[in-house]
Amino acid sequence: MVPHYPTKRSALVPTLLYAQDEVGYLSDEVIQEIASRLDVTELEVRNVISYYSMLTTKPRGKYNVQVCTNISCMVRGGEDILHHCAKKLGIGHKGTTADGLFSLEEVECIGACSWAPAAQVNYNFHENLTPEKMDKVLDDYKKKGTQ
Ligand code: FES
Repeated sequence: MVPHYPTKRSALVPTLLYAQDEVGYLSDEVIQEIASRLDVTELEVRNVISYYSMLTTKPRGKYNVQVCTNISCMVRGGEDILHHCAKKLGIGHKGTTADGLFSLEEVECIGACSWAPAAQVNYNFHENLTPEKMDKVLDDYKKKGTQ
């Protein structure tokens, strides 16, 4: 992947995303390895991680549920969806269920405003949500995750 970028450092964000998808989060070992391979310091890697909200140094659930509460979603019930998820999963913002299956995050606009309220689970979008539709989304992931 690195040869496709003008400098090694340019590959930092895509490399972090790839590693996070593989490992689940950006552990100290992953950060050291990436810093070494891209000829940057660990501090530079950590600075980039702290800038991007989609990057995390803490383990998350198998399914990361990101509920948008930005303006379009807010006026169409996004906060209700978030609270519904929190109640159903028994966790709050940035929390992870005890079984490691779900994490929950309140996020800014995810670019699905026309279909608000919207949520993203890993790389999948779920739109025009209602509490009932969100129940089905979570139940389907739960079934998939425990099979
Ligand atoms: S405001 Fe929620 S997707 Fe844009």
